[in-house]
Amino acid sequence: MEEQLNAIFASYKGEKSELIPILQDVQEELGYLPEDAMRQVARFVRLPESKVFGVATFYARFHLQPRGKHTIRLCCGTACHVRGAKRISDKVKEVLQVDVGQTTKDMKYTFEEVACIGACGLAPVMTIDEKTFGKLSPDKAKDILESFGEEPEGGQE
Ligand code: FES
Repeated sequence: MEEQLNAIFASYKGEKSELIPILQDVQEELGYLPEDAMRQVARFVRLPESKVFGVATFYARFHLQPRGKHTIRLCCGTACHVRGAKRISDKVKEVLQVDVGQTTKDMKYTFEEVACIGACGLAPVMTIDEKTFGKLSPDKAKDILESFGEEPEGGQE
């Protein structure tokens, strides 16, 4: 991690105003913001650790825990709620054995609930990474989760 951080720091001056872009770069490089990395960022931009931790927890885009390979976002906006998002959520939790905000033990999925994603006509909706799945039922969601990412990527090994 040391080397990766130093490589990032090399393109900055160490100014307080650089905090957010640096955190973004660290997250892109490491996948999340480990505590130790945030401490080093704090030292680099000469801010108290509490300030850096505060910023990292304030912005939803920063993740303080390791993330799964794929991110599931289940919409819990009004249209999806009315059409049974809660039952989809329960099914996802049951199939993956996680709670909202958690990552599966095999690190395949991180499960999140989000506000309206603008596809209300397809309610209830969830996305996995960039793909959108609409008109879900609990069974359909289960099938999607069980088969997602199973297709060989890029042909034979
Ligand atoms: S409420 Fe779910 S997409 Fe709008």
